[in-house]
Amino acid sequence: MINPSKRLAILISGRGSNMEAFISAIEQQQLHAEVGCVISNKPAALGLEAAQAAGIVTQCIDHTRFATRHTFDTALADALESYQPDLVVLAGFMRILTEGFVERFSGRLINIHPSLLPKYPGLNTHQRALQANEREAGATVHYVTPELDGGPPILQARVAIEANDDATSLASRILPLEHAIYPVAAQLHLSGRLTLRGNQAVFDGEALPSTGLDWQRDQHRLFL
Ligand code: GRF
Repeated sequence: MINPSKRLAILISGRGSNMEAFISAIEQQQLHAEVGCVISNKPAALGLEAAQAAGIVTQCIDHTRFATRHTFDTALADALESYQPDLVVLAGFMRILTEGFVERFSGRLINIHPSLLPKYPGLNTHQRALQANEREAGATVHYVTPELDGGPPILQARVAIEANDDATSLASRILPLEHAIYPVAAQLHLSGRLTLRGNQAVFDGEALPSTGLDWQRDQHRLFL
């Protein structure tokens, strides 16, 4: 087995299915890294149990115990730094991070968002796409910048919206795509093919468009 020299830190708040996708991508040697820690801001996050079962170090930093967003973010950043992560992965981490936190991990902080960014940042993305009569929906991996869900997209996967779709059916078709694309985006970053320069995602030396790479269309570019 390849000795993983790269280390991930994964932040969760809930069920942690994207985190589990990282664990299995590592097991299947599609992602050459180790998970140094999984940190949750919620003690009851189900994903903590799954991480522990996989033998991963877990920590809970309960945001309700901090008086301000700033003190929570500082404690979180200090804890993360102690694991010396090459990449910090937000995987259903439901806290808005302060600019200070984001700047501290700038260029090594990624998120997955369940919409085709730049459309529908924020919450209730599938419902909003349906209400707007969109023809397609999807998910986007992006670098995190201080603007909420506004950092440069890296990789998107899209699905067609069917006439009888509701938010639940859409989410159930999109989630497996999230699990497919997120570890791939992380591997592209860890291998050095993908970087953040200023406010721009750069892939193989080329500035990516505002929607990033496309999972279906750009397969030949992702896996060389
Ligand atoms: C995913 O839909 C992700 O896109 C969003 O929150 C959800 C997290 O799910 N940011 P899980 O905790 O990874 O199962």
